[in-house]
Amino acid sequence: MIRKLLALLTLVVFLSSCSPKNPPTTESPSPVLKSTQVPTPTPAPLEPTLTAEVAGVLGRAVNFGNMLEAPAEGDWGLFVKEEYFDLVKEAGFQTIRFPVRFSAYTGSAPDYKLSPAILTRVDWAVENATRRGLNIIIDVHHFDEMVGLTKNPELKVQLLSIWQQLAEHYQDQPASVYFEICNEPNNIPAPAWNEVLRDALSVIRTTNPDRWVVVGGVDWNSFYTLESLELPASDDHLIATFHYYSPFEFTHQGAEWAAGSNDWLGTKWSGTEEEKAAILRDFSVARAWSEKTGIPVFLGEFGAYSKGDMPSRVAWTQFIARTAESMNFSWAYWELAAGFGIYDPVNSSWRTDLLHALIPE
Ligand code: GLC
Repeated sequence: MIRKLLALLTLVVFLSSCSPKNPPTTESPSPVLKSTQVPTPTPAPLEPTLTAEVAGVLGRAVNFGNMLEAPAEGDWGLFVKEEYFDLVKEAGFQTIRFPVRFSAYTGSAPDYKLSPAILTRVDWAVENATRRGLNIIIDVHHFDEMVGLTKNPELKVQLLSIWQQLAEHYQDQPASVYFEICNEPNNIPAPAWNEVLRDALSVIRTTNPDRWVVVGGVDWNSFYTLESLELPASDDHLIATFHYYSPFEFTHQGAEWAAGSNDWLGTKWSGTEEEKAAILRDFSVARAWSEKTGIPVFLGEFGAYSKGDMPSRVAWTQFIARTAESMNFSWAYWELAAGFGIYDPVNSSWRTDLLHALIPE
């Protein structure tokens, strides 16, 4: 989609405007990082170092994409199936990120009442995850109208109402149920987004004072917008997220929703020093922010679309997962069983190379 191209362009402009020579200092306890400097790339050890303490125990996760993120479940060819919970548990994942297009299930203003049907469906998913000892992140996904926030402040009212209802509904769930306020905000100035996050957190904290909540920055949750987050300093149950699909021409080659992406078909990723350094440089920005603020980081989406060649996809996926772990980021692969999928739902089989790139044998 055009938004991804814009994100890429923004990223290129941003990176080209940064000096890689001046690493940010790490003394400030403030959660607000003012510096726009990019630290010198630090070579990361590639042994998995992820520990249970990391990021509120999110660990290794997979997104249940294309299911309830579609306008209606099934519209994009996938239904949530009970067997998926068993499969991901057996494969060794600890967490499911569960994207839901809640904004498609609200009634009219001023209540924006969520339909009982969607709550019943999400309850079922939460129950299935919890019963198997899996964490689950309830993620407000594809609130696409949010791009109009500047012109239509009522959208914030709708999001707050969704969270007031979800927070109340899930307040008695165990700590293994996480909330994620809103996927990939874009075309919103950071100050306006910070206000949304602050108000949503205050709604959530009324009923869920200690639940872990995932928050991300503008520009589709890019790593370089973590620094513009202004989060309540008193809230010590926050996890910051960023999404990573770079190089975009590689990960989104042939993706039907990414304009011009057929021109990128055949793009490979072979793990050259230069290719790895670019990823390390980006991830180091997120790590520096995390060290400075003390807020754990969750790489909530990364993946390479099925139109790329499998050896490149495996190499990229493995490098991203190990690098994230070496920086103590928990992570969630995008996604289980659709176009980026590690699981083939038609033949009921894992794409084992991809799976083992994520979870080494
Ligand atoms: C975002 C979108 C999702 C898309 C993915 C990869 O999460 O919401 O629909 O598949 O990015 O482009």
